[in-house]
Order: sequence, then structure tokens, then C-alpha cells
Amino acid sequence: MKTTGAIDTAKRQLVYEVISGGTGLILALFMWGHMMFVGSILIGTFGFDWLALQLEIYFIAQPTVVVIFSLFLVHAALAARKIPAQLEERRKMIRLGRDLKSQAHEESLLWIWQVRTGMIVLVLGSFHLVLLGIDVLTPLFGERVGIESVTSLARVQAGLWLPYAVLLICVEFHASIGLYRLAVKWGVFSSLGRKTLRRIESFILWLFLGLGAVILLVLAGVIPPPLAFLATGGAA
Ligand code: HEM
Repeated sequence: MKTTGAIDTAKRQLVYEVISGGTGLILALFMWGHMMFVGSILIGTFGFDWLALQLEIYFIAQPTVVVIFSLFLVHAALAARKIPAQLEERRKMIRLGRDLKSQAHEESLLWIWQVRTGMIVLVLGSFHLVLLGIDVLTPLFGERVGIESVTSLARVQAGLWLPYAVLLICVEFHASIGLYRLAVKWGVFSSLGRKTLRRIESFILWLFLGLGAVILLVLAGVIPPPLAFLATGGAA
């Protein structure tokens, strides 16, 4: 029957929506944890190597790379399914806004930039995850199997700072707008209103962008680790 088919399609779409939203939420929360992990370089190479070793000894880093990479690909595949249909719709909204000489439809502009940044994150993030997979699973880079500051610093300073800077900007924009859209879509914190949600989103964006930029400058050797005085046992 036609109605049963329509209900099945609607159910399937809902399941896809829940999975793409759920994987997006997990990845955004992971990126906050990732900032803390890579941020250990702010204490110096001692802090970075100590934390990396703990995550490897307790077998946390290895499965995390595999799980995050899998979630990353599932999220991209499910989120991409809506792009062709929605793109035309959103462009129409933006044109309409301009024709009426009012502001361009902001939510549609945000959506288009989320698609653009998502594509860049997919390419650069995949490259980064493959690199880290090689680090934690093989002895190919560095002196042993695992993440080492000597390898991370050397490759960022050799030129990886540039793709990492682009990845940082795109991932922070994509994640903060994604969290805002999830909150609006599922009605979480709806009592706060869209304006306040946008302010919270902007605060999260600039906080993590600023923190990520300082971390990248330390990895690139442009500035010394600002929290080196906290390391009592080792060289900064
Ligand atoms: C389990 C998975 C991951 C691990 C173990 C990991 C680990 C690391 C490490 C060790 C660095 C230092 C530079 C290097 O060694 O190349 C780094 C930097 C970076 N990572 Fe990841 N990463 C993971 C996932 C991701 C994902 C999914 C993204 C975004 C799509 C990402 C974005 C970045 C960025 C932008 C930097 C530059 C430093 C900054 O300013 O934050 N990472 N990561």
C-alpha cells in the first residue's frame, strides 16, 4: 500500500536524522576533549608525552582513533544525503531575502557555510585521522609506536600548520553551528530563545578557536608553551 510505503520512508528518514545528529553531537563533544588532550602541549613536551603515554598504556588512544574515524564517516555519509535537495531550497531563500532588500536569510547562509566547511573537514580530517592511525598503530613515524611530541612538533613545523589552521577554523565553525542547529531542531534549551542560543554558539566558537590557535602556535614553534612553569618534573 502507498501509505505504508510513505510511513516506512518517513521512519527511515527519522532514523537517519537521529544517527546523523547523534554522531555529530558525539564528534563535537570529542573535539572538546581533543582540545584538552592536544592542549597538554601548553605545559610543554613533558605534559604532552606523559598524557599520550597514559592514553596508550591504558589502551584508550588506539580504539578511540578507530571509533572516531568510523563515526566521522557515518556522520558525513548521512549528513550529505540531504545536500542536493536542500541546496536549491536554501539558495531560493537567500535570493528572496535579497530581492526584498532585507537581510539575506541568515539561517540559510549558515546552512550553506556548514556544508562548505563540512566538505573541507571531511578531506583534511580524514588525512589527519589516517596520520594519527599510523602513529598509534605502527612504528612508522618517530622512535616507537604511539603519539610523540617530537613527531607532532616536527611535522607541524615542516608545514602541516597550514592545513591544521584551515581544519581548525572549519571544524570549530562546523561544530558550533551544528550544536546550535541541533538545539533548535530538537527543541533543547528552547526556553532560551534563538537569539541567546546564537550568543552561546558564538561564545563557544571564539573560545575554542582562540584556544586552538594558541595550541597551534605552540606546536608550530612560534611561541613557547605558556604554562611550562606548571611542569615540575621535565623539560618544557
Ligand atoms: C582519535 C582521534 C584523534 C587523535 C588521537 C588526534 C590527535 C592529535 C594530535 C596528536 C595533534 C597534534 C599534531 C599532530 O600530531 O599531527 C592533533 C592536532 C589537531 N587535530 Fe587531532 N586528533 C584526532 C582527531 C581529530 C579530528 C576528528 C579533528 C577534526 C576533524 C582533529 C583536528 C585537529 C586540529 C585542527 C589539530 C591542530 C591543533 C589545534 O590547533 O587544535 N583531530 N590531533
